[in-house]
Amino acid sequence: MEMELELDVLWAIAGALLLGGWVSVFWFMKRVNEWYYVGKLGELEYPLPPGDLGLPFVGNMLSFFTSLRSGDPNLFLQTLVIRYGKSSMYKTHLFGCPSIIVCRPELCRRVLTNDEHFGNGYPKSAYLLTGEKSLHSITIAEHSRLRRLIAPPINGHESLATYIPLIEEVVMNSLDEWASMKRPFELYTEMKKATFKVMTRIFMGTVNDYTFWTKQDLFGDYIDGMVSLVIDLPGFPFHKAIKARKELVKLLQSVLNEKKVMPKSNDQPKAKKDMIDLLMEVEDEDGQKLEDEHVVDLLLAFMAAGFDSSAITTLWALLHLYERPEILKKAKEEQDEIIKRRPSTQKGLNLKEIKEMDFLAKVIDEMLRMTHGLSIFREAKVDVTMHGYTIPKGWKVLVWTGAVHMDPETYENPTDFNPLRWDNINPKAGAFIPFGAGRKICPGNSLAKLVIKIFLHYFVLNYKLKQLNPDAPIRYTHGPVHTDKCLVEVKKII
Ligand code: HEM
Repeated sequence: MEMELELDVLWAIAGALLLGGWVSVFWFMKRVNEWYYVGKLGELEYPLPPGDLGLPFVGNMLSFFTSLRSGDPNLFLQTLVIRYGKSSMYKTHLFGCPSIIVCRPELCRRVLTNDEHFGNGYPKSAYLLTGEKSLHSITIAEHSRLRRLIAPPINGHESLATYIPLIEEVVMNSLDEWASMKRPFELYTEMKKATFKVMTRIFMGTVNDYTFWTKQDLFGDYIDGMVSLVIDLPGFPFHKAIKARKELVKLLQSVLNEKKVMPKSNDQPKAKKDMIDLLMEVEDEDGQKLEDEHVVDLLLAFMAAGFDSSAITTLWALLHLYERPEILKKAKEEQDEIIKRRPSTQKGLNLKEIKEMDFLAKVIDEMLRMTHGLSIFREAKVDVTMHGYTIPKGWKVLVWTGAVHMDPETYENPTDFNPLRWDNINPKAGAFIPFGAGRKICPGNSLAKLVIKIFLHYFVLNYKLKQLNPDAPIRYTHGPVHTDKCLVEVKKII
């Protein structure tokens, strides 16, 4: 008996020593990483923000991935708040780089709008995959020129009006298809397909064959490699993504070539043009048109940026609406009113009606606030002093949108889905930035809202939705998604 007790004590001591040893090694490694990065900075006038740089090479990625697996990237930030107290900024080490997280509205805005101090900070994989002529890789002057040129085809009033019937056609067909499915289906998968169809329809019109694009899930591979380690070897996401990019560029160039031999687009009425026509026609002040390479890289960027983000916002808007009958009723009433006011000769929606969807606009803002909660990447071009802290030159700056969107000081009970909150709040600059801010603000913001509104309009008027596993765990990849990819049944209201 005594012998057994002694053995237990010995095991306990060995366990404690082992644990103590691990903790010491862990602590030592963290100190080494901190010395490596912070030691290089020399004497700083202002301190670095609170936080830590994690372990050598991996930094804090493990804890970051854990928060993504939990479905809420804000958990990563909450860990920092628990460890270091509430602060406007934290230092950390993510995606292989020492980084500063910024999480106060006015500071987020400052970072996004100050081009002198902050440049692009996306991981290297993103630059290599978006192309040399893409919006990420060019100079500020070239960026401004391109943004001026692409603004009318993407977000211009006339273009948006042109896109409405194209979007309606895809939306109505998709919803009919969903309602005719005999079995429950993955709403996330189908929604992505539908928004992808919408985007290809808008960008390339009827020249493209949708099945042709999706055959090899080229876009899936392409997007998955955007934030990945730059290892161009078989089996690695970056390698797959580079291969996908090559194929996609070839496909887009073939669409462009096909367009060029079609009858001149200025012989067609404006309503027949799609975005590729408009991009091929735009001219700058010197009469210069976009080169083919530009058009291809831009279309690739639009498609990569546009379809998944719009799908996730629409999906969550539907889930929340069908969970909250009183809010669904309000959304439906607004859509009914729009239809009632319409002259009997009018077929389909027009831009004026879209603008009248005030309540739906609030539903969408609420969803953008709740579902787009990760980070916009920048890099400090010089040492910057902000809020009493130093952001060192060359460090990444992560504008943590989730922190400002979920801040109870701006949004009371931030985790509640409450479109009515938008009746009473007008968030201060930087407190609502789902589309970013400044020079790189999302050029597709109005287009995205248009697509989502049309989807919701037809859905709430004509269909019912039932989610089969509402308690399925949620993971965060490009946004929060249930692990069962959101199994649902959709029925037509007769
Ligand atoms: C709900 C949908 C969407 C969300 C939440 C969203 C969000 C964003 C954000 C936050 C940025 C800023 C990135 C930065 O500052 O570095 C951005 C940029 C961009 N977005 Fe969107 N976006 C959406 C839909 C779209 C659509 C439909 C398009 C397609 C036309 C699009 C095209 C782009 C492009 C090309 C950029 C890069 C702009 C630049 O570098 O100048 N986005 N988007």
